[in-house]
Amino acid sequence: MRIFSGIRASGDKTLGNYSGGFRQYVATQEQGDAFFCVVDSHSITTPFEPEVLHESTLSVAAWLFATGLDPERSTVFVQSHVGAHAEAAWLLGAVTSFGELRRMTQFKERSEEQDFVSAGLFNYPVLMAGDILLYGTDIVPIGDDQRQHVELARNIAERFNGRFGETFKVPDGVFPEEGARIKNLQEPERLMSTTRGAPQGVVRMIDPPDVVRKKFKAAVTDSGSEVRHDPEEKAGISNLIEIMAVVSRTTIADVESRYDGQGYGQFKGEVGDAVVELLEPLQKRYEELRSDEGELRRLLGIGADKAREASAPTLETMYERMGFVRP
Ligand code: TRP
Repeated sequence: MRIFSGIRASGDKTLGNYSGGFRQYVATQEQGDAFFCVVDSHSITTPFEPEVLHESTLSVAAWLFATGLDPERSTVFVQSHVGAHAEAAWLLGAVTSFGELRRMTQFKERSEEQDFVSAGLFNYPVLMAGDILLYGTDIVPIGDDQRQHVELARNIAERFNGRFGETFKVPDGVFPEEGARIKNLQEPERLMSTTRGAPQGVVRMIDPPDVVRKKFKAAVTDSGSEVRHDPEEKAGISNLIEIMAVVSRTTIADVESRYDGQGYGQFKGEVGDAVVELLEPLQKRYEELRSDEGELRRLLGIGADKAREASAPTLETMYERMGFVRP
């Protein structure tokens, strides 16, 4: 089974990224032939700084290995290292309509936040469809916020197949049930993200233990006292329960029963400790890779070679089916 996912190279990675992303990648790597792509080309669709793009590309790559992707088993690579992605996006633009791109929720939201709305932002989902379709992907493990983009990729695949002949496998999105929507600890009505929301409520994967503990101690909860999962009425505490379930690899029900009758203070402290325990070994591996850029680039080089080899035949078929004269 072919697995593909893309990870954006922007912003510091958070506990939300771990829970809805990295954690899942490591689990799915066991299920088949997995490709994980640092999507640096997607990062230039919203305002960016070159130095930051450079740094975050290396950083995300290091996190992928640090959280457990095995370079022997999985293909981990940087999108811009494989030219087929940009080419596929251009070709697929022919079977994607202006109307469907305009309807994308993420485009609507992001474009409202910016003065300069780039053509790249509009085309973002086409590039993403190419990423997925180039590899004959069966499943795409991905965050909940990307459902619409995966759905579009499926439509694009079907449309291309219908118009030019069977070329693409139609992929399925796989969305995590728990932990996909970890919220900001200060504003539990919004997702945990470094780009929006109170920084105090955002746990970054690189945060040292004392900072992590402090953020959990300060987490917003409701005025009640029961550790009970009820996202409508008790958004803050429900978020902490979900985090605890993810971090200690158990279920929401189990966390509820474990903390039945205990106060919020105690619970918040223990969630903080559990997160510290999870992050410490990952941070150690991360720092090792960041202090040896040669090694990190070597690993990415192996990934890029494998990705080029795997995507080239699909791209060639696309050109041929569409009637291009090939060199
Ligand atoms: N858009 C995805 C996100 O924001 C990142 C991404 C780009 C991706 N290309 C992809 C995810 C291909 C899965 C498959 O998370």
